Amino acid sequence: MKEYTLYATMGAGFESVVAKELNNLGYKTSTENGRVFFKGTQEDIVKTNLWLRSADRVKILLKEFKATSFDQLYDEVYSYDWAELLPVDAQFPVKGRSVRSKLHSEPDVQSIVKKAIVDKLTDQYRRRGFLPESGAEYPLDIHIYKDVARLSLDTTGQSLFKRGYRVEHGGAPLKENFAAGLIELTPFDGTHPFIDPMTGSGTIAIEAALKAKNVAPGIWRKFAFDNFDWFDKKLHPELVEKAKAQEKQDHAPILASDIDQSILEIAKVNAHNAGVLQDIKFKQVAVKDFSTDLENGVIIANPPYGKRLKDREAAEKIYEEMGQTLRRLSSFSQYYLTSDPQFEKYFGAKATKKRKFYNGNLRTDYYQYWANKR
Ligand SMILES: C[S@@+](CC[C@H](N)C(=O)[O-])C[C@H]1O[C@@H](n2cnc3c(N)ncnc32)[C@H](O)[C@@H]1O
Repeated sequence: MKEYTLYATMGAGFESVVAKELNNLGYKTSTENGRVFFKGTQEDIVKTNLWLRSADRVKILLKEFKATSFDQLYDEVYSYDWAELLPVDAQFPVKGRSVRSKLHSEPDVQSIVKKAIVDKLTDQYRRRGFLPESGAEYPLDIHIYKDVARLSLDTTGQSLFKRGYRVEHGGAPLKENFAAGLIELTPFDGTHPFIDPMTGSGTIAIEAALKAKNVAPGIWRKFAFDNFDWFDKKLHPELVEKAKAQEKQDHAPILASDIDQSILEIAKVNAHNAGVLQDIKFKQVAVKDFSTDLENGVIIANPPYGKRLKDREAAEKIYEEMGQTLRRLSSFSQYYLTSDPQFEKYFGAKATKKRKFYNGNLRTDYYQYWANKR
């Protein structure tokens, strides 16, 4: 089977998390900002799309070359064997990005690449006039960094955070792969209790349940590779079956609570869609009244941030309440994500460790408190 140079993309700060996930799946990796490279076959493309919890996409690196002029860019793209990759009716949107490079105009880079591919395919398929672009989609991208261009094919399609279990609602849920990445940074593996005391639409608890049950997070969805005409169509259903056979039923308790009953109803629908409704104990309770007899587990919460001035005071009061009830649960490792730089002051304890993440465009810190195990 042909071996490809592959890479996973991810949100800033999650590189080491995705690298670890890939290592656990059996791949040797090398890491750059926003990308983790590995080698693999079509089977590995299916496997990583199905199993990576915290990545955005899996791409095939088609070609890497130096590009300091548009002529050079055109020639290098033209010289690729496009007919081997793209059938005559392929749709091939090209995304262009250029950073710290001579060819800095992204629209120009994108349109030169598109033109070179169109010209080559027209020659290779001996077409006169337009290519129909009426068939399956092959999403391409060109990324130029410090004059080195990389041409890639996206095998994922819609980002991996779109697992397919979430119902839309007006709140501000964490992306599924972001939540999964936060979990990957904890020791949680399903053998000890898990608590999200401010669960909102349930993303973190659902991702925890999926991990505890060893459910492949991409198990429900389709990927761009499903439509590639040269892709072995047996692989995806085979690997889904294999993944299903590896699912586990038993795990330690997973608790998800929130002050707001109506958001819990949404969380339950999401959990149902993800097949983990019976795996999570949902409860309506304010964090100031939260208590549990469980021990030695992991707490993750994404409390309100109080971004707007008028919400700030309310958020800080919640951090104080969290401090009063949750700090007592000292056998739990605790992890809190918020954009409030004063979190530690109101929570009443300095974090063992902090880690910076962007939740969308918003800078947040992941405050981590190590446990005192009993
Ligand atoms: C930022 S949202 C959590 C979003 C969640 N991670 C998701 O993916 O949907 C914060 C949640 O904290 C809840 N909350 C606010 N005040 C609370 C309190 N005093 N006790 C418990 N939950 C509270 C809100 O109802 C909201 O659902």
